[in-house]
Amino acid sequence: MKITVCLGSACHVKGSHQVLESIQRLIKAHHVEDQIELAGTFCTGNCDKGVCVTVDGNLISFSPNNVEELFEKEILAKLQ
Ligand code: FES
Repeated sequence: MKITVCLGSACHVKGSHQVLESIQRLIKAHHVEDQIELAGTFCTGNCDKGVCVTVDGNLISFSPNNVEELFEKEILAKLQ
């Protein structure tokens, strides 16, 4: 599974760094490092939906407050 986190300025203001760190922490906590490729990306033009995270190409709006919930629903649940 490929996950990208937007590190553009609008998403940065909304907490993209925190989102990225939380995702990294959750990946380790759930021992799924070998199943996930995590990368940062430049602005994708969807600033109003930030923090923009894509999971296998699907855009999902994350915020520092809902990372755990979305990680379970949109990432963990979709891993085989
Ligand atoms: S800054 Fe993230 S989509 Fe523009």
